[in-house]
Amino acid sequence: MKTINILFIEDTFGDVELIKNELRKAHVLFDSRWVDSKEEFMFELDDFSPDVIICDYSLPCFTGMELLLMFKETKKNIPFIIVTGNLSEQLALDFIEAGVDDFIVKSSFGRVPNAIKKAIEKKEIEKEKEFIAAELMQSQIQLRALLKNNQVVREEERSSIALEIHDELGQQLTALKMDIDWIMYHQKDPESNMVNKLKEMIKLNNDIINSVRRISFSLRPAIIDDLGLLAALEWKCADFEEKTGIVCHFNSTVKERKFDKNFSISAFRILQESLHNVTKHAAAKSVSVSLEETDKELLMEISDDGIGITNDKINNNKTLGIFGMKERAMMLGGKLVAKGIQNKGTKIELALPFEAELNNK
Ligand SMILES: Nc1ncnc2c1ncn2[C@@H]1O[C@H](COP(=O)(O)OP(=O)(O)OP(=O)(O)O)[C@@H](O)[C@H]1O
Ligand SMILES: [Mg+2]
Repeated sequence: MKTINILFIEDTFGDVELIKNELRKAHVLFDSRWVDSKEEFMFELDDFSPDVIICDYSLPCFTGMELLLMFKETKKNIPFIIVTGNLSEQLALDFIEAGVDDFIVKSSFGRVPNAIKKAIEKKEIEKEKEFIAAELMQSQIQLRALLKNNQVVREEERSSIALEIHDELGQQLTALKMDIDWIMYHQKDPESNMVNKLKEMIKLNNDIINSVRRISFSLRPAIIDDLGLLAALEWKCADFEEKTGIVCHFNSTVKERKFDKNFSISAFRILQESLHNVTKHAAAKSVSVSLEETDKELLMEISDDGIGITNDKINNNKTLGIFGMKERAMMLGGKLVAKGIQNKGTKIELALPFEAELNNK
């Protein structure tokens, strides 16, 4: 059994001896020190490292309550037990509120060994819980950092694949087109089967060039780099309206400037996924995208007039669209909330702090 370090704050030698006797009777292994001033108490907290503190309530120069409050300020997690001649109900309540671990009336010193054991066990459980909570917090931080890194790496990969496709494939297709043009030009009979076949090849080649542009654009919306984030968001709305026939109003009071790459791509992807969801799920006639800024954050609201997302859909763990948008926002220190009203529509509210621009540079 471990030896328990007990720090007594007492002015009466007899009381300390009585308590020690009870501990010996209960075969508790202990070492103890005895102080009767605040200064000695503070010194022994570090020098003796007590496992438990047993404090008399009424001492000549201060009360047990004063000492308890002083002790709580040290933030040390050591059980603190009050011993007193008698204890009024109000005093007991005051002590509980101040965070005492137990109190023992002097007439029942026999309770001391058990009270010490319980108080130490309680503190150990508390310490364990704190440890687990800290571990959990740490692993959440690591997980978030991992996710963020993953997103950044993914975007970088998409970006380089987009460039590769655009530059390599695009150039080769253009070269192919020029070669076909050359063969066409050297045909004698403009109505021959060969010429017709070449015309089909030119059309196919043009279609492939357009597909390459579309694919490379969807992998990395270069428009963000070319025109800036706000122009890219506005373009996305116009493109969405043209492709789906769903009216899309775009409203912004935000000043265009050079935003950080991660910040821009996150805002763009969130709008992209929200509009994609409108097409897939909302049965909406129109969408409004509004952008505002405070001195700290960009605020984006995407609201449609469709069937309205339900709470169970917002919180489901099976799909990744809304979850991914929330994670993107959270990784940059922001917040995304989805709300729905049945047959009135769905609203996505995003707040993305500008300071994340600095954190991600
Ligand atoms: N604008 C909307 N209006 C109505 N319902 C919506 C809207 N957006 C999402 N939902 C509902 O919420 C669900 C979850 O959306 P979420 O984007 O997470 O998944 P998903 O679009 O089904 O799949 P994915 O993982 O491909 O995005 C959808 O399946 C849909 O039922
Ligand atoms: Mg989705």
